[in-house]
Amino acid sequence: MSKKPLILGIESSCDETAASIITENDQGNPIVLSNIVSSQVDVHKEFGGVVPELAARSHVEKIDLIVQKAIDESKIDIKEIDAVASTAGPGLIVCLSVGLSFGKTFAASLNKPFIAVNHLEGHALSPKLNSKLNYPYLLLLISGGHSQYLSVKNLGEYKRLGTTIDDAIGEAFDKTAKLLGIEFPGGPQVEVLAKKGDPNKYNLPKPIFNKGGCNLSFAGLKTAILNITKQIKTEQEKFDLAASFQKTVIEILHKKTKIAFTEFENQIKPKEKKFVVAGGVAANKEIRNMLIELCKEENYKPIFPPIELCGDNAAMIAMVGLEKFKLKQFDNLDYPAKPRWPLDQDAVFLKGAGVKL
Ligand code: KG4
Ligand code: ZN
Repeated sequence: MSKKPLILGIESSCDETAASIITENDQGNPIVLSNIVSSQVDVHKEFGGVVPELAARSHVEKIDLIVQKAIDESKIDIKEIDAVASTAGPGLIVCLSVGLSFGKTFAASLNKPFIAVNHLEGHALSPKLNSKLNYPYLLLLISGGHSQYLSVKNLGEYKRLGTTIDDAIGEAFDKTAKLLGIEFPGGPQVEVLAKKGDPNKYNLPKPIFNKGGCNLSFAGLKTAILNITKQIKTEQEKFDLAASFQKTVIEILHKKTKIAFTEFENQIKPKEKKFVVAGGVAANKEIRNMLIELCKEENYKPIFPPIELCGDNAAMIAMVGLEKFKLKQFDNLDYPAKPRWPLDQDAVFLKGAGVKL
């Protein structure tokens, strides 16, 4: 039996220092041997958000320990590693540089190939870590920095169907949390508070609901919430606002996903209709449930990564590394960190005032 590839994945694009070793079984299904994620929540808490310089310093302090831990937990010998895959972008340049330099040095010292990975491609492929998933598929990527519908035709072949023209969904959750007085990182807590509230209490705006195809917008929602928070006095009103916010986001995603389904079908004519939802916000159960229901109605197969692989991790980076390794898609050791690196390089930049839809 031939030796199965062993890939070391490294992630440091924002505030998680992560390393993972993956391989695959005889059927070609990936196996996660270790997946270590060290979060920097305590470093950034007092500032209410991620401070890039502090994040980078924390990555530098921890990266060797985290990689060592991933190797120890996987029970492999370091010399067995076949390739090293590091996130090269998008993200904070000072943070990316840490994991990228570490990965290149590691690969060079082992005399093994180096693979530069797009963090967003990591999210896009993350469901492959626990379910069989062949190309093509429709992807909804919802994280702290991105909200996009993309048709995924093959490894590295993406066509953007829609994107946010202002805030990302995760960012909207985080900003709402801040306005509700929830400590950083507050996005997941909004879901918790929403459970205790009345989702119909506040009528919030749904920007570009009836135009712009499956493009998204959340900035107006944040402004409305800011105005309401100035008037609310009781805890119950806070819960009601969290619930109303979440319901509004769900209504927007419901409508826009239906449009994305149609666009995907027109463009790809897929034999099998598959819908992958990935990124930190895919951990939200209410959003999951609505999208699963919608898939049932529209004859799509819904595919989510396991909750623990929705947020940033290195197993998803190693997953991209594994696919690229099998295709011998290696990168040079002078590969640069790329703060901006869209999956669909041909898509028009659609952010800021004056965007025409
Ligand atoms: O993918 P991710 O870990 O990092 C980025 O690449 O951005 O996503 C983090 C985002 C944050 O904005 C966080 O608030 C959001 O995902 N998030 C959630 C939930 N869990 C994480 N938003 C809503 N509901 C959740 N349960
Ligand atoms: Zn991410």
